[in-house]
Amino acid sequence: MSDSDFDDKTFVDINAIINGKPVNARVKSRQHLADFLRHELELTGTHLGCEHGACGACTVMVNGGAVRGCLMLAAQADGKSIDTIEGLSVSGKIADLQKAFIEANAAQCAFCTSGMLLTAYELVSQDRPCTRDDIREYISGNLCRCTGYHAIVDAISSVMERRSADRRA
Ligand code: FES
Ligand code: FES
Repeated sequence: MSDSDFDDKTFVDINAIINGKPVNARVKSRQHLADFLRHELELTGTHLGCEHGACGACTVMVNGGAVRGCLMLAAQADGKSIDTIEGLSVSGKIADLQKAFIEANAAQCAFCTSGMLLTAYELVSQDRPCTRDDIREYISGNLCRCTGYHAIVDAISSVMERRSADRRA
């Protein structure tokens, strides 16, 4: 197979569920998922920083797990369920995390925040005890240049405590 087989004129048809709605689209074979979400679906809450898997700004949920949207091709979304910050915000599933981030001042420029919230959502959804160090390790793939992480860990920790208390009540 030559390089020309993978140029931008090659397209793939996909059927995916994005933020709970069916999406049928013809995508460029080399376009990554984050670009597809941002440019074709106008879901610009998924941010792009490094575009090589290092910063976590592009994090989205794929079949319930946090995935870097810059490392997955849009074509690979075929048959999958994708949730972005927009979908999770509308559904209310991360309302407690969003409130906690605001209360703890865990966002300054907020460039990292959508990716950080989705990684945090994956963690709190696991319903397991975590120390602050565990939280730090879990979010270590999401880089933040502003807050220094203390406030972010405070916010996630408070949500884990509240969710745990609610389960015991
Ligand atoms: S933009 Fe995807 S990890 Fe940085
Ligand atoms: S709040 Fe600015 S990069 Fe995290």
